[in-house]
Parts: sequence; C-alpha cells; structure tokens
Amino acid sequence: MVAVKGKKLTKIYNGIKAVDSIDFEIQQGESFGFLGPNGAGKTTVVKMMYCFSPVTSGELRVLDMEVSKNPSQIKNLLGVVSQDNNLDPELSVEDNLILFASYFNIPRKTAQKRARELLEFMGISEKSDALVENLSGGMKRRLVIARSLINHPRVLVLDEPTTGLDPHARHLVWDQLRYLKEKGLTIILTTHYLEEASVLCDRLVIMDRGKILEEGSPRDLILKHIGKEVIELGLPQETPIDPQELKKRLGDCCHDYRREGNFLYLFTSNGQELLENLPLINIPFSYQLLRPATLEDVFLKLTGRTINGQPD
Ligand SMILES: Nc1ncnc2c1ncn2[C@@H]1O[C@H](COP(=O)(O)OP(=O)(O)OP(=O)(O)O)[C@@H](O)[C@H]1O
Ligand SMILES: [Mg+2]
Repeated sequence: MVAVKGKKLTKIYNGIKAVDSIDFEIQQGESFGFLGPNGAGKTTVVKMMYCFSPVTSGELRVLDMEVSKNPSQIKNLLGVVSQDNNLDPELSVEDNLILFASYFNIPRKTAQKRARELLEFMGISEKSDALVENLSGGMKRRLVIARSLINHPRVLVLDEPTTGLDPHARHLVWDQLRYLKEKGLTIILTTHYLEEASVLCDRLVIMDRGKILEEGSPRDLILKHIGKEVIELGLPQETPIDPQELKKRLGDCCHDYRREGNFLYLFTSNGQELLENLPLINIPFSYQLLRPATLEDVFLKLTGRTINGQPD
C-alpha cells in the first residue's frame, strides 16, 4: 500500500518554484529519502506532507488522503521531526513530551508512561527532569525524535534528523531509526548527508533546485551512474587529458571519468584490472587511490557540484 504519493507536486513562494512539478511514490514500510543540497526544496516537500504548508498545484496524498482535504486525520497518523526543534525551552524534557501528547488527547498517565519509554529508547532518560534549554544540540534532536513517536505514528517524517550532531550522536540516531524501520514503520527523511542516505534509505530521490534528478536505491544509483569503484588520481599540474585517447587505452573496464582540477576520477566495475592498466596512459600520477563508489560521486556527476554546493 502507498504511504505518500506526489503527482506534479508544485510549491511556489513569491513567484519562485521551490518544488517544481515532482512525481514520487513511497510505499508503506519503506525508508525513503529526499537527498539534496541547501535550497533544493526538501523541507518544502515534507512541510506539504505534514500539512504545514499548502500545496500550490498538483496532488499530494498521504495514507490515501488528500492533504488539503484531511489535514487533521493525516496529522494524527504522522510523526514529525521538523528541521528546527521547536521545543519549549522553559519546560523539562518529560513535560515537553507530556504537553505534546495532550495535542493528541493522550491522557496524562498514558503520556507519562509513554514519555519514559521514549526517553529510554532515545537514550536520554537521565535528562528527564532537565530543562530543555540546558540540553546539548544532540540531546535536543533526540528529544524531538522521541516526541515525534508519542502518538504511535504510521509514518515518520524527519527533516534532516542528524544535521549538526557529532558522529557518535548521529550513529545513535541511525541505529534507532533502523530499529523503527525493522518494526515496520514507514520512514521519510530529508538529508544532505550522503552517508545518512546510504545507511538509512531503501530508495531515495536526488533533488536539486526544486526538481527530482534521479530516483532509485542507493546501490542501483551508484551502479547505474558510476559502477562499483572509483580510482582517484592526482595529476601533475596542467596535465592535458584527451578523453578519446584515455578511453582507448584503458579499454572497457573504465566506463567513464571525470576531471576536477588536478584530479582525475575513473569510474569502473573492476578497480583491480583498471589499476593494472593504468601504466598504459603513461602519466606520472602524484597520488592514486582505489575506493568504493559513493552517492557523492553520483551527485557530482549529475550536478557538477558537491552536495554542499562547492565545486569539488
Ligand atoms: N517561507 C518561504 N518563503 C519564501 N521562500 C521560501 C520559503 N521557504 C523556502 N523558500 C525557498 O524555497 C526554496 C527551497 O527551500 P527549502 O527550505 O525547501 O530547501 P531545503 O532543500 O530544505 O534546503 P536546506 O538544506 O537548506 O534545508 C529555497 O529557494 C528557499 O529560499
Ligand atoms: Mg531544509
């Protein structure tokens, strides 16, 4: 069954198309990502899903309901982790959860029990009585994730769940999200961390400037655009590269390449064989590295930029 479906979904802010006629379909039980750089339109898409921002045109259905017609039913079935934490800083950790539970008419006793379970689940129960304003950024994020689960949602929407967290806190969040996914929860997340997308998503779309550039599983996207491996080579200054000649000499095991300044990236499904053929191109490389291909390689190939907006 379909969890969320967008068709020609468009959002225009003051004449600017933040989301530009995108189509996607997320199945229940799936973990689905919107991956893209700053300003790609990721937050705008999820805000429309959780009925915070109206759709300009096109269709958006959540759990078979149209967002414009059934916002309160949809909100009851969703868990939301918005990009900004919007916690109440003057309340304690536990009281933030209890207050939030009251919006879903969850009785106080039930809310208290659930709050304790969720704080335990997110590894912050020792902070239960602390004021939110005294929590670290990582703990606030974990609290927002705990809060999003208070109503036993069927679909969890997370807008950049781990941005700003240190690697330890990030891995902790990933572990808990994977656990929830294994329990059958549908997880929809936005991210500009390629590793996060690879670790968490069954499928994802790559967004840039309001449009979807590609869709697939991380593995399929990597194999389609790059191959299994990449050889990175440092070129001596200003070395001219003739693409035809390069292809001819390296043969079929190098199916594409990209040059960025003094670096050459060779895309291959057989890195070892390609390494053995490297002397054929007769360039004295200052550096060489064989590594697995990643989503970053895919993103760069599709957009010519790294996901943080810099040229490589
Ligand atoms: N409330 C708003 N009013 C006007 N323009 C907006 C508004 N919200 C977003 N935009 C614009 O819409 C575009 C998409 O923004 P959005 O926040 O959806 O991107 P994003 O992919 O979530 O970026 P980030 O990674 O920085 O969170 C941007 O050009 C942004 O400036
Ligand atoms: Mg955003």
